[in-house]
Amino acid sequence: MIVPFNEPFLPAGSLKIALNSADLLRTQGKYYEGCKKLITQKLGFKNIILTSSCTSALELIALSINIQPGDEVILPSYTYVSTANAFVLRGAKLVFIDTYASHPSMDIGKIEKAITKRTKAIVVVHYGGIALDYKGLQRLKKKYNIPLVEDAAHCLGSKSGKNFIGSVGDFAAFSFHETKNISCGQGGAAIINNPAFWDRANVIAQCGTDKIDFISKKVKFYSWKNLGSNFLLAEPLCAILSESLKLMKDINQKRMSIWKKYHQALVPLSEDGLIQLPPYDLEGNGHIFYMLTKDKKTRTDLIKYLKAQGIETTFHYFPLHLSSYYLKNGAKAYLKNTEYISDRLIRLPLFYRLTNQQQDLVIKNIRKFFSKLSDGS
Ligand SMILES: Cc1ncc(COP(=O)(O)O)c(C=O)c1O
Repeated sequence: MIVPFNEPFLPAGSLKIALNSADLLRTQGKYYEGCKKLITQKLGFKNIILTSSCTSALELIALSINIQPGDEVILPSYTYVSTANAFVLRGAKLVFIDTYASHPSMDIGKIEKAITKRTKAIVVVHYGGIALDYKGLQRLKKKYNIPLVEDAAHCLGSKSGKNFIGSVGDFAAFSFHETKNISCGQGGAAIINNPAFWDRANVIAQCGTDKIDFISKKVKFYSWKNLGSNFLLAEPLCAILSESLKLMKDINQKRMSIWKKYHQALVPLSEDGLIQLPPYDLEGNGHIFYMLTKDKKTRTDLIKYLKAQGIETTFHYFPLHLSSYYLKNGAKAYLKNTEYISDRLIRLPLFYRLTNQQQDLVIKNIRKFFSKLSDGS
């Protein structure tokens, strides 16, 4: 491929620094602690548990909320399976919320109607690093006092006004998977903003023991206190993550400039009604650049056309409410906007080392595809 969809970014020297030292084999060693410090310095989050993935951060959060069989959890259908699995693993019943008509974000105006006495958590996803309405989320939190979870897998460094995404929920979960802005190959973070859950979350994250108190010398030995598992991010990955975190501002700015260039270059196609573009949001972190085609066939043809020119593009998500796993138990939901978006959304190549020439090639070929389409050739 001349232009791959993604190219993971490994900051120069990160492995060299790490491999020099046997400290690399410690659990919760200096790199683990160093990453937490960097996240606190850069984003202001205080209660952080670094996890082996965002998936495991969400599972840790579901356990911390003490989700029980039959509890209802409100979430979007247009998301990755992990947003749902974390809660289904605890026996939760999913209550799906639709997206906006022309935007893949969850329509938070529809949450209130879905709340019942059995609602145990509200899980929101800030799609592509673009914040949902923070004031609206704050209002919901105040009015209902139901634990609010931000699936912020895409969002490290994105803002809503003065607030970094991940700061409004009782909990937030971030991803450091290979496609994310800041990556260590595979990793995550659970942010526990509500201090009432902090002790419980730490016990769960340490195999259900009070090892955290043992480490800080509050107790002489540690023992089994609760359900739990080994959720923590391994030290070698923390070593890589810390180098990447140091470059967060630069990485996000570069991705954002690529994002803006796509947007500006494609505006004429959107004005001609050939595509729909995301809202021009400058508070994002440039995690995803997507656009919507007029129908599924156009998207399939566009992906095929670009592939033939050496350009890799992709799409996601298959709506969870249409998945065979969800439907197998006789559950039913109709989410018109989600289905519309899911059929039309295409993601363009966007990564730190994407060159100007590569991006120009993508733009040129998208224009070519649509001009051929308009000509009927
Ligand atoms: C919205 C969302 N939540 C959770 C995840 C899971 O992240 P991870 O791969 O770090 O487990 C993803 C993965 O991309 C995602 O897109």
